[in-house]
Amino acid sequence: MKFELDKAVPWGRNLQEYKEMFNLRNSDLDKDIISFGDGPASFNSELNYLGKKCISIDLIYQFTELELKERFEVVKSQVMQQVRNNADNFIWKNIKSPDELENLRINSMSNFLKDFSKGKKEGRYLYHSLPDKLDFKGQKFDLGLSSHFLLLYPNLGIDFHIKSINEMLRLCKEVRIFPILNLNAEKSEMLDDTIKYFEKEYSISIEKVNYEFQKNGNEMLTIKRKSQ
Ligand SMILES: C[S@@+](CC[C@H](N)C(=O)[O-])C[C@H]1O[C@@H](n2cnc3c(N)ncnc32)[C@H](O)[C@@H]1O
Repeated sequence: MKFELDKAVPWGRNLQEYKEMFNLRNSDLDKDIISFGDGPASFNSELNYLGKKCISIDLIYQFTELELKERFEVVKSQVMQQVRNNADNFIWKNIKSPDELENLRINSMSNFLKDFSKGKKEGRYLYHSLPDKLDFKGQKFDLGLSSHFLLLYPNLGIDFHIKSINEMLRLCKEVRIFPILNLNAEKSEMLDDTIKYFEKEYSISIEKVNYEFQKNGNEMLTIKRKSQ
């Protein structure tokens, strides 16, 4: 089924937020990183600017720069209205106010858009739909990230999440997923089944992180091969 532009919600975070969400140290940024469902985050463009390597995977990379820019303007008004109407549901610690949130998202989008066509040519932004297999050999990447994608959307079904995480683990020595909540800021209904599915073969841990925007959304799931 074709993924239409009006279903896309281009809303992206920045490098500092990724560092906080995934407990990334400066040495982690030197690793070979692949980020799934990376959307219009400015993580890839900011890393590229620092001379580091990252590949981003997303459905929305099928659209043009202009299409994404126009869609962002629509999404921005809708999301910001919801956030302002429900400001008490969020923790204003890392991000201090709705105005700051709006500015952060505008800046991420702008950095992403400036880098998008160059990054696409360089193979840093890949249009791809998980859980389909990517054209990379196994264990090519040190670190695979999922920010606000896997475990977040129960409507995609547990099968989708397990298959997608399996594909991440085929490619990556270590996978980190943040948050482990659903959109209502409740524990993800897929978390226990996901842990049960992977715990025989992989080491799994839940780690506290410094980032919290959804209430209690300050933990990430880490999955690594047991032999490492
Ligand atoms: C909420 S956004 C998160 C963007 C970014 N990771 C961040 O945290 O700023 C979720 C992203 O997942 C992408 N996505 C949804 N389903 C996907 C799929 N099957 N394969 C790849 N990406 C997908 C969406 O297009 C969207 O850009």
